[in-house]
Amino acid sequence: MTEILIDHVVKDFEIDRRSVRAIDDISLTFPSGSFSALIGPSGCGKSTLLRLVADILAPTTGTIRVGGLPPGEARLRHEIGFVFQDASLLPWRTVLENIQLPLEVAGGPIGDGPRPENLIRLVGLSGFENAKPAQLSGGMQQRVSIARALTLRPKVLLLDEPFGALDEITRQRMNMELLRIWQETGTTAILVTHTIGEAVFMADRVHVLAAHPGRLVTSIEVDLPRPRELAMLQTPAFNHFENAVRAALFGDELKAVAGG
Ligand SMILES: Nc1ncnc2c1ncn2[C@@H]1O[C@H](COP(=O)(O)OP(=O)(O)OP(=O)(O)O)[C@@H](O)[C@H]1O
Ligand SMILES: [Mg+2]
Repeated sequence: MTEILIDHVVKDFEIDRRSVRAIDDISLTFPSGSFSALIGPSGCGKSTLLRLVADILAPTTGTIRVGGLPPGEARLRHEIGFVFQDASLLPWRTVLENIQLPLEVAGGPIGDGPRPENLIRLVGLSGFENAKPAQLSGGMQQRVSIARALTLRPKVLLLDEPFGALDEITRQRMNMELLRIWQETGTTAILVTHTIGEAVFMADRVHVLAAHPGRLVTSIEVDLPRPRELAMLQTPAFNHFENAVRAALFGDELKAVAGG
């Protein structure tokens, strides 16, 4: 069971000898095995929040727990997988060698981690084991990076706009695949996205953030059945949740437009 707890977290950065508050007292709970989305304008602290959970950054004040552990400890136990906006693969390594990289860094297999061949199958890249990243499409590269993030069987999967650079059709396919993988692996997933429809389609709960300083506006429960199907995109229920997220994102701006 791996619940993620963010308790009154503040993160300040020093920029040009000025202190900038990137995260202003955010408290959030991500239930074990849930799929959550973070959405909000550029600079509202979404990436910072993921980096805090992954122990790439430390909070200025406040507490974070990953399955009851401080993030540093969870990281040492290989419980956190991270997928970045760009696939960030090593260009001189093949697909298989990129996926195996975390094993090498960790100094060998951890427990009963999944075999690289199975991961390649899981992300639909069978037959491309020996291809180099440059020989793959952007979506295929991102799938390699998802497989790499899953190599050490993390209990937590952090995804920072993993499909931001892809066209809408490919993106929707990748999202369906991501949901399938998430359900198969039982991880606690947090997805950062700029797209309202994507947040609603993927998540059990959408957390809406605002910028300067980065803070939580509201959290919206998405009460749509699983597995999520493409046909849901056109239902009134889906539309209802999209509108709720949009209203939270735009706040008074939206009211002004509607009224005027
Ligand atoms: N390493 C850093 N050093 C200094 N300031 C930083 C650093 N990382 C982020 N910030 C600041 O923190 C704030 C939040 O940045 P963050 O990258 O988390 O935003 P974001 O929500 O991910 O935005 P985007 O949607 O554009 O990716 C910004 O004001 C940014 O300038
Ligand atoms: Mg970001």
